[in-house]
Amino acid sequence: MSMHSAAMAAACPLDANDTIADRAFAGDVLAGLSEPQQKMLSPKYFYDAAGSALFEQITVLPEYYPTRTELGILKARGKDITAIIPDGAALIEFGAGATTKVRLLLERGRLGRRLGAYVPVDISGEFLNGQARDLKRDYPTLDIRPVVADFTTPFALPAEVAAMPKVGFFPGSTLGNFEPHEAGAFLRSARTLLGAGALLIIGIDLEKDEQLLQAAYNDAAGVTARFNLNLLVRINRELGGNFDLSGFAHRAVYNRERHRIEMHLISRKAQTVRLLGHSVAFRSGETIHTENSYKYSIGRFSALACDAGWSTLQTWTDPEAMFSVHALRAEAG
Ligand code: AVJ
Repeated sequence: MSMHSAAMAAACPLDANDTIADRAFAGDVLAGLSEPQQKMLSPKYFYDAAGSALFEQITVLPEYYPTRTELGILKARGKDITAIIPDGAALIEFGAGATTKVRLLLERGRLGRRLGAYVPVDISGEFLNGQARDLKRDYPTLDIRPVVADFTTPFALPAEVAAMPKVGFFPGSTLGNFEPHEAGAFLRSARTLLGAGALLIIGIDLEKDEQLLQAAYNDAAGVTARFNLNLLVRINRELGGNFDLSGFAHRAVYNRERHRIEMHLISRKAQTVRLLGHSVAFRSGETIHTENSYKYSIGRFSALACDAGWSTLQTWTDPEAMFSVHALRAEAG
């Protein structure tokens, strides 16, 4: 995401140097903060450079179990997982973050030497190219074909992989950020993109004791609070906002009926914030809903996948069943 709009004055229209992504951010922020019932901002905007660095810090917090648990499953079960991947397959990673997870697969069962291609798909081209360069050093014979795209909207695979068996890889429980109907729509479009007979290896966080969930999103060191508040920092910088950070507090709560952690920013007082020539009024205690992180049972996830045309081949969990990795197969039709 570009940073050049930082100096933009509050009331100025977007100029010709602003990218489409900046415009989408501005439009989404104005729309979300104008919601009469519940103000909201999309979690996809957490990940500017500072937010991505804060997320990396979250992944190693003692309370934040998902990343280390999923890595543990990929390590312990990597051989079984890679055994179902055919020789010459194209491995398509949705939202390729750090290459840590795919590396665990590439190391197992010589996968890095027998893949037809690795296709990381990410919205940030700069990031992707850096990752591809690093991976190429360790796997010089691996055909790496990055695709710069927002994987939540339709995109095309490189023509070179058309004839290869397809295996999708979607770790990190990123699907948990989607509303259930959006998660279903994503799985259906992934099925269309990858085609009948394709596989999908997907990481899904599981429902568990509420105490553990609350702790994972309200860490003692306050990193998740900084991650949440960074959204306001980003709005101030990129959209010329004047959010007073001390006027907002982080809160994460588990919504049991909807099986999701909700993150909010609570206004500590009645206040008015200006951005992009608009004023946004907050009541004391009013919140901005910034993220949902849905938790699934294995049964509920399999049913969601089944409705979207995927059958479950295998499910792996850690010994405490905190997190799950599923191998799905795209049914014909
Ligand atoms: C990247 C969406 C999986 O929901 O656990 C971590 C993001 N938010 N702490 C999650 C997140 C607060 C994370 N996902």
